[in-house]
Order: sequence, then structure tokens, then C-alpha cells
Amino acid sequence: MQVVIQPDAEAIATLVADEIERLLRERPETVLGLATGSSPLAIYDELVRRHEAGRISFARSRAFMLDEYVGLPDDHPERYRNVIEREIAGRVDFAPGAVQGPDGNAEDIPAACAQYEAAIAGAGGVDLQILGIGSDGHIAFNEPGSSLASRTRIKTLTSQTRRDNARFFDGDVDAVPHHCLTQGLATIMSARHLVLVATGAGKAEAVHHLVEGPVSAMWPATVMQHHPRATVLLDAAAASRLQLGDYYREVFANKPAWQGL
Ligand code: F6R
Repeated sequence: MQVVIQPDAEAIATLVADEIERLLRERPETVLGLATGSSPLAIYDELVRRHEAGRISFARSRAFMLDEYVGLPDDHPERYRNVIEREIAGRVDFAPGAVQGPDGNAEDIPAACAQYEAAIAGAGGVDLQILGIGSDGHIAFNEPGSSLASRTRIKTLTSQTRRDNARFFDGDVDAVPHHCLTQGLATIMSARHLVLVATGAGKAEAVHHLVEGPVSAMWPATVMQHHPRATVLLDAAAASRLQLGDYYREVFANKPAWQGL
């Protein structure tokens, strides 16, 4: 696992956007994995800037979302499909239908989950998966106790996650759905490069477990320790509980330029 500690979210966004730009130039059909929430917003803004400057095109690429709430009306602003449209998909040049997410309003939920897995596999898998981390250690919505071998399925959100996400629902925790569809941990682990972003002291405990703790379903993000190419980008506050912070800084400062992110 590569740990990169940067001054702020903008510096992190520049590094991630550099890598995505490199991928899109090398292979315009690159498949991206998109997260929602606050963590990727600076990355999306940077990608939009580069698109508007004519540096990158998403026209031949595809993208898969990590998760979706169950039961929000199609036009609800916090439905993840609408959030992704607002934050990135609708601001760049993805082809119609090129961005997909699990269908949280499907009548047959297990069938919708299986179809979503098949769609990801049919696209050849995800090349670069953007991730945030919950304060309880979830990635996507794989809450503590999730099977490390899980695939896309319905999950019940913890009250911690519903409290964390109430800020997107005018502070009303009762408005946050109880259920979601989420890619499983094994689904996420199939992506070729995992890029997790965390900023702020509220993520420090989860980051400590992710990077330096034992692998455990109690801190689901720790499964990433088994991934051959996982990059964790942090600001100083999110990195504040890491024992080997100085070592991670030294490794990154001396990294050969040809290695990329
Ligand atoms: C969202 C997702 C979640 C978030 C996590 C952190 O698609 O998969 O795992 O990444 O809850 O959320 P933020 O970034 O809002 O702190």
C-alpha cells in the first residue's frame, strides 16, 4: 500500500487527476470507478477544469458508481445517480449511458445487483477506482462486519453513517435512507488500481486502521492491504494517527518519477 501525505485536498486532487489524465491519454477507453460524498469533489473539479481546457476527454471512457441509496425518488437531489451527474458526469463529455450505477429502486434487488456485477465485468473491469472512507472504516457502503468476499448487494447503513450523511439531507438524520446497494469488497478489490482519498481529523482513526491495523471485517477498508496496487492519499490531519508517517513522506519524496501514482 502506498501512502501519500499532501498539504490539502487540492494537492491530492492534482496527483489523482494527473494519473487519470495519463490513463485517458494512454487508453481513451479507460474504465473509471466513481465515489460520491465529499472526498472526491476536489478531484472532480480538477478533472472538469482539465476537460474544459481541452486536455482530457471522457468520450470513449466508461464509469461505474460504487453505491446507491435504496428508495429515494428518481429526482431526489441526493440520489447518488443525480449527485454524480451534478458533480462530474454532466460536466464532462461521457457518452450517454456510459456512467452506470446500481439501481436502488429496482423491484428485484438481487437481480439488479447481479446485473450490475455483470455490467462491470462486461466492461472489462475498473481500471482506477476512486474511494473515500467512512469514519467507521467503510469503503463504498461496506459497513463493519461486511464479508471481505462480498459482491454487490443490499446493505443496512449504520447509525454512524446515517449521522455522518445527514449533512447532505439538511441535517435531518431521519431523511437518510436505511438501505443502500453497494459494490462488495471483492468487487472493489477487482479494480486494477484503488485510489482512496481522506482528509480531516474525523478520518484519522479509520485511516490508522486502514493502513496500519490488522485486516478485519470490523474495519472493512483494511481489505485494501491485500490489493497489489492501492494508493491512499491523505492530508496531515487524516494522517495524524499513523505511526510511520515520516517514513511514508520519505518514500514519496524519493519515488522515481517514472512510477506515476
Ligand atoms: C460514497 C461512498 C462512501 C464515502 C464515505 C466517505 O459513494 O462510497 O464510502 O466515500 O462515506 O464519505 P465522505 O467523502 O463524504 O466523507
